[in-house]
Amino acid sequence: MTERRTAVEYSAFIAACSPRRGGNSDAAAAAARLALHDPVCSARIADAGVRPCTGCGYCRSHPGECAQDGGGDGAASLYACVAKARLTIVVSPVYFYHVPSQAKAWIDRAQRFWEMPPAMRPAAGRRLTAIFIGARERGEKLFSGAGLTLRYMALAMGMEWIPPLCLYGYDGPSVLREDRAALERIRAFVTHAWQNLG
Ligand SMILES: Cc1cc2nc3c(=O)[nH]c(=O)nc-3n(C[C@H](O)[C@H](O)[C@H](O)COP(=O)(O)O)c2cc1C
Repeated sequence: MTERRTAVEYSAFIAACSPRRGGNSDAAAAAARLALHDPVCSARIADAGVRPCTGCGYCRSHPGECAQDGGGDGAASLYACVAKARLTIVVSPVYFYHVPSQAKAWIDRAQRFWEMPPAMRPAAGRRLTAIFIGARERGEKLFSGAGLTLRYMALAMGMEWIPPLCLYGYDGPSVLREDRAALERIRAFVTHAWQNLG
């Protein structure tokens, strides 16, 4: 079986996962974008109208497809952006030790790729990483759930997972935007991820 691979159209896809508009994730996504070469594709997952997986089993009999696609649902076009970018960066706050529900709904819709033979997975050779943001100042496991979930989404799509940048202690909507050291950490993380694509 030959590997199915979409042509590169974007250097990177930045998926911002907070439902809070203009908050810390949006600021981090903007900083990540500044560190990258154009063309970059950006999206706010919470604005994409992604419906949740219902476990209907359609993708088991139709690998790569989802019964929820169409009718204004944004999951498929977001996945197309992942497949067209060399590097995808998911930028997310932590909500009860995970990504917000809108982002989790999108991730669950990757079940369609899990049902595909590995050689057919649509983003083979691409890389996925994340920037996670939490209010707590510490906590070894604060980002573990979100990281595991994204790591398995990467696997479902045939991608390589790069360990995330984890930012602790950001709560109010403008704190990250005003923290030059954090913005510099984001720039350095993204630059490093980009330079190591090979
Ligand atoms: C529903 C909800 C759940 C949250 N759960 C956590 C949590 O478990 N741990 C934590 O450190 N922060 C938690 N937070 C705080 C957010 O992660 C934090 O405010 C973050 O900076 C929000 O990013 P944003 O501005 O991009 O929305 C929670 C916030 C909300 C609204």
